[in-house]
Amino acid sequence: MIERILLATGNAGKAAELARLLGCPVLPIAQWEPPVEDGDTFLANARIKALAGAAQAPGEWVVADDSGIEVDALDGAPGVRSARYGGDGLDDVGRTAALLQAVSSADDRAARFRCVLVAIGPDGQELHADGTLEGSLAHEPRGANGFGYDPVLIPTGETRTCGELTADEKNAISHRGAAARALRDTLGL
Ligand code: IMP
Repeated sequence: MIERILLATGNAGKAAELARLLGCPVLPIAQWEPPVEDGDTFLANARIKALAGAAQAPGEWVVADDSGIEVDALDGAPGVRSARYGGDGLDDVGRTAALLQAVSSADDRAARFRCVLVAIGPDGQELHADGTLEGSLAHEPRGANGFGYDPVLIPTGETRTCGELTADEKNAISHRGAAARALRDTLGL
């Protein structure tokens, strides 16, 4: 029986969101010291954070996540570099503009959000879960909801971007929600 999970983050909001999705108490790790995320895949980076979390919170169940957007016309980029795409000086609006510029002449606008969760148990057991939100890139940003690349990803079957969906609508189909449901099932929560 898992009574609580520590999330490898200092962000209480992220922990509260995961708690809602898992139906189990989730707390941020106190005095979280983030490791260098130098993996080439979402799984590699989630593992780096989960292992750092397990070292910082021994005896606990620790979960870490990594997520981002993959664009087919860019061979999967920005991928693990989603948060830094276009250079460190950019904000979400600038990064989104840089991404649309990079695909401006591409016919193929297929893209997806991906989320990988890694859980490490008190005995060192390791579990993985992932989720995907398939879609295509809009031609210009639309909608003020959400964050990051939400204004430019149109989920498959939708006409609206994620930035135009309500939080509940997005949670019902999101990569993060799917990964959390998969982890909840794997952990038997
Ligand atoms: P992380 O915090 O290292 O996982 O970086 C994730 C980055 O991917 C964020 O900074 C966003 O730019 C992007 N991203 C991940 N999930 C979403 C989402 O649900 N909507 C929009 N952008 C996202």
